[in-house]
Order: sequence, then C-alpha cells, then structure tokens
Amino acid sequence: MLISGGGSNLRALLDRTRDSDFPVRVVAVGADRDAPGLDHAREAGIPTFVVDYGAFASRAEWGEALAERLREHAADAIVLSGLMRLLPDAVVAEFAPRIINTHPAHLPEFPGAHAVRDALAAGVSETGASVIVVDDGVDSGPILARERVPIEPGDTEDTLHDRIKLVERRLLERVLLDLVEGHVEIQENR
Ligand code: GAR
Repeated sequence: MLISGGGSNLRALLDRTRDSDFPVRVVAVGADRDAPGLDHAREAGIPTFVVDYGAFASRAEWGEALAERLREHAADAIVLSGLMRLLPDAVVAEFAPRIINTHPAHLPEFPGAHAVRDALAAGVSETGASVIVVDDGVDSGPILARERVPIEPGDTEDTLHDRIKLVERRLLERVLLDLVEGHVEIQENR
C-alpha cells in the first residue's frame, strides 16, 4: 500500500486484515515522504519504506527507486490510498494492471488532487467515492467500484471528506475481496 498522509484508510484496512476470515494481508506500506500514516503500519509490525520524492532530481528517477522497493515486496496488488503523486509511466507500465487507487469522488467527475474541494466549489448536491485501476492518465483508469455520497448543508471539505472515506474503505475492502475470490479479474488493456 502506498500513502502520503495520515493513512486513515490504511488503518481501516489493517484493522480489517486482523480478521482471519478476511483473505487479504498488507505486506508493506510505502510513502513518498515521512508520512504520519506509516505509524499505523509500524504499530501493526508491517514493513515500511520511504522513497522521498524531494530527494530525487526527477519524477522518473523517483519512480525507478520506488519500483525497486515494490519489486522487493512482490505484492499481488499495489493499493494507492492517499498517495498524492502521479506514478511515472514506467512504474505504471511495469506493474499495471495490478495497481488500484481510491479516489474521493464519483469518477470520472472531479479527478485530480482536490476532488473534495472541487465538488464543493461546483455546488453539486452529491459527489462520491471510487476505486479504480491505475492507468497512465489522471484518475482515468477502469472503475472497479463507485458509490454516491450526498453533500449535506454546512459540509466543509473535512466533514465531507470524512464521510467519503467511510465509503472508500467499504469499496476498497469489497474490491480486494472480489479480486482474491476471483469475482473480478483485471487484465492488461481491460
Ligand atoms: C483518501 O480520500 C484517498 O482516496 C485520497 O486521499 C485520502 C487519503 O486519506 N486520495 C486522493 O485524493 C488521490 N488523488 P487518508 O490518508 O486519511 O487515508
């Protein structure tokens, strides 16, 4: 799993994986900076790594270092939940279609880094949560699950995002289960 921030979705998934009936295990958690959310993995005894974006001269070089760490851990799937960087094309090309991403909007609406703010600014009455396969665009890959989340009067970016994350966590769990149980198959170019 790859994160950049507080990792509340990571934490929820780690809690879920404590249930022996849930057939998913997090093998490692990485970040593009010293993200506070890495503590959730440390507390759970799961290996962590940081590939510090700022320490590299280019996104491509950062991507090469990241890919090396991802290869070491050889996970069946790479889950981005709150990784606030676009993966370089070479990383996507190497690991696709096994990279999935949560996004706090009902894609294809409101792609990008400020999805919750953008939905509030647009004045819409509902937004949503999505889980997608990562491709080489911005939040443009195949949608594995998505659900609407109503915007309540008085919602701020934080209150709305918190409600969206509850839905993201449920969708992510379901997608991971579907993948493990073979109900969904992700294939190259599909
Ligand atoms: C989640 O809503 C995730 O979908 C979003 O960041 C949040 C991370 O929350 N990702 C993006 O917006 C990527 N474009 P968390 O750190 O509390 O789990």
